[in-house]
Amino acid sequence: MLVDRFDRVIENLRISVTDRCDLRCVYCLPDEDIEWVPRREILTLEEVARISRVAVGQGVRKIRITGGEPLLRRDLETLITYLRAIPELRDVSLTTNGTQLARKAEALYEAGLHRVNVSLDTLDPETFFRMAQRKRLEAVLEGLETAQKVGMRPIRVNTVPIRGVNDGEILDLVRIARERGYEWRFIEFMPLEAGQVWGPERLVPGEEVREQIHAVYPLELDPTTHPSQPARDYLFADGAPGKVGFINTVTQPFCERCNRIRLTADGKLRTCLFALDEIDLLGPLRAGAGDEDLAAIFVGAVHTKEKKHHITDGLFVKPTRTMSQIGG
Ligand code: 5AD
Ligand code: SF4
Repeated sequence: MLVDRFDRVIENLRISVTDRCDLRCVYCLPDEDIEWVPRREILTLEEVARISRVAVGQGVRKIRITGGEPLLRRDLETLITYLRAIPELRDVSLTTNGTQLARKAEALYEAGLHRVNVSLDTLDPETFFRMAQRKRLEAVLEGLETAQKVGMRPIRVNTVPIRGVNDGEILDLVRIARERGYEWRFIEFMPLEAGQVWGPERLVPGEEVREQIHAVYPLELDPTTHPSQPARDYLFADGAPGKVGFINTVTQPFCERCNRIRLTADGKLRTCLFALDEIDLLGPLRAGAGDEDLAAIFVGAVHTKEKKHHITDGLFVKPTRTMSQIGG
């Protein structure tokens, strides 16, 4: 087992397979001066698979693939197949912006990816353009439908409400969740964007979103919500399909229960979204490290996992890497 200094058991590995993206969400990756990681510094799919096997050998049980936009990575299905071949791995999932999902959902499903999280902040084309700086709303909506059609379950949707931008649409989003049986998650805006967009006045607290929904569609805590998961999930009291959930990273930090570690596309371990230091795996891996050496690096990294983030206590230092490079 991977256990850190605060007795948290690390079972969850999030792997970014590329730092590239076809959208430019303002809360993540604004358009100017993007420096992509050079291709040779990106882990190959075989390297990712090997690291995953080592991690599972140490106790990891869930892997989520992220980006950038992971569906921009060629042959991603092959990685799914590699991961599916690791018997102790209980869960493989993926977070995508959905723009390529209509094209890829079926192949991914066949390879063994049976659930997906799609990021979608608005149903309004103009607001979509304002937030993502690309006109791709239709493609994302189509991707969502295809994912459901090929059998992926549950279909989760992530929304980051931003005051004055998309916070007027909460109930519209919830209506789609109810109609289609999606699990809709509202994620508090975190200071991880490349520019200077974040500010307390831009943050919409998850509790405020929950109250707004509850007033129209009464909610009941989902009894299957696992205490270690960051999201608090709710069912609709009237029995409508779908769920809504809240990831209140800023106003209700879940650091005490955090069971995650992250691997960046260029092979660095990050023990916290907001970590200022990273632990290199790519260098040792390409220098010929054995599986035991890699396992030791995992154990060592977990021992440096930070106690909590400092967004609200005045000690916060923004990481130099943005969400697109970390993988969310
Ligand atoms: N704050 C909160 N969530 C963010 N995401 C990206 N940037 C931020 C941010 N600054 C979300 C995306 C995606 C997930 C991986 O992280 O919307 O759903
Ligand atoms: Fe986990 Fe770090 Fe995020 Fe806290 S800040 S929830 S410890 S990843």
